[in-house]
Amino acid sequence: MTRIVILTGAGISAESGLGTFRDQDGLWTKYDLDEVATPEGFARNPDLVHAFYNARRTNCRSAQPNTAHEALAKLQSAHSDDVTIVTQNVDDLHERAGSTDVIHMHGNLNGALCAGCDHRWPAPLEMSSADLCPACGNGSTRPDIVWFGEMPYAMDEIYQHLTEADLFVAIGTSGNVYPAAGFAAEARAAGVETLELNLEPSATAGVFDKSRHGPATAIVPQWVAEVLRAQKKA
Ligand code: OAD
Repeated sequence: MTRIVILTGAGISAESGLGTFRDQDGLWTKYDLDEVATPEGFARNPDLVHAFYNARRTNCRSAQPNTAHEALAKLQSAHSDDVTIVTQNVDDLHERAGSTDVIHMHGNLNGALCAGCDHRWPAPLEMSSADLCPACGNGSTRPDIVWFGEMPYAMDEIYQHLTEADLFVAIGTSGNVYPAAGFAAEARAAGVETLELNLEPSATAGVFDKSRHGPATAIVPQWVAEVLRAQKKA
C-alpha cells in the first residue's frame, strides 16, 4: 500500500495551452506580479486585477485537460490507496479530467469571494469592481485567488497528508514559491520518498530522491502506468 501526495503546478497545464508563470513568455514576463497578484495591487487598481483574472478565466474555460491530468485522475480511481492531489493551479483541469477532492491551495478562478464577510459563490465569466456580494450586499468582492502575501488554503490538511504519505510527487512546478516549494523537504524530513516530474530540473531539484524530466503529457502517463503495473504484480 502506498499513500501518494501529488503537488501540481503550471507546467501540468502548459500543454493544455495555459501559460506558465516563469518560463520564457510566462505570465510574469508580461504582467507585473505586484500589480495583479497582491492585495495591495488590487486595492490600487481593482479593474486591472479583474481584467487579468477575467482573461485567465476565459482562457481556462476554452482549454481542455491533457493526458497528464487524465492519468492522475486514473491513478486516483485505480490506485489501491489514497492519492491526494494538491495544486497551485487556479484552473479546473484536474476536476474536468475526473479527479476528485483536489486541494486548490492558491484558490480557484471559478470562485468569487467577499472580502467583507468571506462568503463564496461561483464567479461569473467576467467579474467587475461593481459586483456586490450576494450574501451581505457589500462591494468588496474579489476573485477567490490567494495572492502574494496571503496565506495559502488548507495548509494544516496538506501538511497532515504530506507527513502521512509514502510517496510525494511534484509535477510541473518551478520550486520558486513557498510554502509549496518546501513540501519536498518537509516530506523527506518525515521519511517520505520524493519524486520530481518536470520539464527540467526545478529550483529545488536537489531535494528529491528521484527525478524524471520531459513534457508532462509524456512522463506523467508513463509514471502512472508504472505505478499501476507494480500494484497489479504486488
Ligand atoms: P512556474 O511558471 O513557476 O513553473 C512552471 C514549471 O513547469 C517550470 O519548472 C517549467 O520547467 C515546468 N514546465 C513547463 N512546461 C512543462 C511541461 N509541458 N511539462 C512539464 N513541466 C513543464 O509555475 P508554478 O511553479 O506553478 O502563484 O508557480 C507557482 C506559483 O507562482 C503559482 O501558483 C502562482 C505563481 O506566481 C500565485 O499566483 C499566487
